[in-house]
Amino acid sequence: MTSTESRPAVRIEHAEDEKIYSTAGRGQTFGEILARRLSRRDGLKGLAAASAITLAGSGMGARFTSAQGGTPAADGTGISFEAIANGVGNEAVVAAGYQVRPLLVWGDPLFADSPKFDVMAQTAAAQAKQVGYNCDFTGFIPLPVGSGNSDHGLLVVNHEYTNGELMFPDYTTVGPPAEGETDPTITFKPTKELVDVELEAHGMSVVEIKRDDQGQWSVVLDGKYNRRITATTEIDLTGPAAGTDLVRTSADPDGKTVIGTLNNCAGGVTPWGTVVSGEENFNQYFANASLLDPESIQALSAARYGVNEEASERQWESFYDRFDLAKEPNEPFRFGWAVEIDPLDPKSTPKKRTALGRNKHEGHTSVAVDGKPVAIYGGDDQAFDYAYKFVTAGSYSASDRKANLDLLDDGTLHVAIFNEDGTGEWVPLVQGQGELTEANGFATQADILVNTRLAADAVGATKMDRCEDFETNPVTGKVYLVCTYNNNRGVEDNYGIDAANPRAPNKYGHVIEITEMDNDHTSTSFEWALFITAGPADDQTTDYAGFDKSLVSAFSAPDNVTFDNLGNVWISTDGNKVDDANDGLFAVPTEGEERGFARRFFQVPDGAECSGPSFTPDNSSLFISVQHPGEGGYFEEQVNTWPDNKNGVAPRPSVVVVTRTDDPTKAIVGS
Ligand code: FEO
Ligand code: CA
Ligand code: CA
Repeated sequence: MTSTESRPAVRIEHAEDEKIYSTAGRGQTFGEILARRLSRRDGLKGLAAASAITLAGSGMGARFTSAQGGTPAADGTGISFEAIANGVGNEAVVAAGYQVRPLLVWGDPLFADSPKFDVMAQTAAAQAKQVGYNCDFTGFIPLPVGSGNSDHGLLVVNHEYTNGELMFPDYTTVGPPAEGETDPTITFKPTKELVDVELEAHGMSVVEIKRDDQGQWSVVLDGKYNRRITATTEIDLTGPAAGTDLVRTSADPDGKTVIGTLNNCAGGVTPWGTVVSGEENFNQYFANASLLDPESIQALSAARYGVNEEASERQWESFYDRFDLAKEPNEPFRFGWAVEIDPLDPKSTPKKRTALGRNKHEGHTSVAVDGKPVAIYGGDDQAFDYAYKFVTAGSYSASDRKANLDLLDDGTLHVAIFNEDGTGEWVPLVQGQGELTEANGFATQADILVNTRLAADAVGATKMDRCEDFETNPVTGKVYLVCTYNNNRGVEDNYGIDAANPRAPNKYGHVIEITEMDNDHTSTSFEWALFITAGPADDQTTDYAGFDKSLVSAFSAPDNVTFDNLGNVWISTDGNKVDDANDGLFAVPTEGEERGFARRFFQVPDGAECSGPSFTPDNSSLFISVQHPGEGGYFEEQVNTWPDNKNGVAPRPSVVVVTRTDDPTKAIVGS
């Protein structure tokens, strides 16, 4: 490998700096803030003001040693590992006392008859029977069903997107740098055969896995639940928008059957053992919005969701009409949904649940109490977009699994308003209520659900700094919302700060702690606090729940979160800037004296983001997705070839499993 200096920066899945928000609704533009004579230091002042309301940290920490230098468990958090130092490199690194092994590697077989992986001659047929690309969400479902086992189960994995430039020889054309740039220009030149591989590398995997007597996990290749769901799998469209005019296409005049799921990012396991997977940056797959009637809802929606005006970078529209808006103007309306799959029924058809709205979905933690409606939380990962909660009309039954299987088709979608005083409201997005009238363009509930962003604009939802994961603390019931960052807040004429997004620009991201009224997750009101305003310890706008910042493992770009059974939150990063260290996973107590004391536990190799952490029920195994290792290179000049390293020619995104080294069956925390 040569130096990274000359490599092009190829990163196509996220469009966080795109300005595609609406100027409708609530929030202040920077001009408005200036008009109020607020100074350039408002970011800091705003943070201080918000902190006065919301920070509950103790400021303790003097008796703790630095996270970089050893950290005894002090007050029941169960965290006793020594934090790893910030670093870079072409290996996955975990704290001393733990081991990390690849479990599901791109191209690994999922079935007894899966073709052997050959990166130089990959085919769509082979890919359809192998682990997909760019793993993200992971969720473990114990087997036998209902057992709570931690040594046998199904791992459900999202495969968010493909990096064709890393996957295939001869996929790119490399040209001289554009004017004013130093990196070479690279363009994609996919063939239909390669696009077909990419379609099969998207989606999800359901994999039966088992732990042996030595505590090592492996795939059960003849497991009856093993399954790939891809961008060519038939999927039902269900709920209020299904079958409506907006979702009909020439291939599907009934508007009830979609081919495939795309850009599956964060997700969640429901209490009834299904998985809800979020279709995130679906806009990137569609082309030619400029050819739509500019007055049409399709054109308005394309602008608000960032659908390509001209050709797409992926160029799938060259091979499949459904990705070309000039030919199929409604096709984008069939993506951007929450997809529910039943891993325990391998013949079941996945369902896009339109009742949960259409956006760049993240999150999907659900909270259920027997006999009560279910709450399910989701973020829309775009700068200045929104946080959502869906509450089912029907009630959860702990004793009747089947009765829960279509709960997500009927209920009320809400969007969050975060008030300056630390309270908040979940505003229902219901046709006929408030601004959501026919006169304002919302004649039916389908109009609201298909163009949820427009409805949320209309009710004045709080414009957030890229809502990513949303998880509930199993010990306290508090809900944690992660905002990754927003480089555009307060910049030029963009919206400025508010209490829930108190930095402009927000370079480092933050985590918000939500306490639902009476701890009832179906409530329409809540209180909120800033838990962590991330970033370097020496940046005066950062805060780790009041903990002594000189002692923590500082991080930025918080993205996915999971909880252990003791209520510690594990935060993974996507685009960490602290020390320019690689992305990683950080364990953070949420209660007690160590609240906010972040410790770096795991680090991904160069080019990767850290995503999708999840534990087995007994916390003995921690699954982590190492997504897009080596991103920034291209096939002929790879940044690295992790995890195969010297035996490989391309990096391979992988789910890894972390266990204790001394006894892989013992809990990672608390013992
Ligand atoms: Fe695919 Fe918002 O991360
Ligand atoms: Ca991601
Ligand atoms: Ca992510």
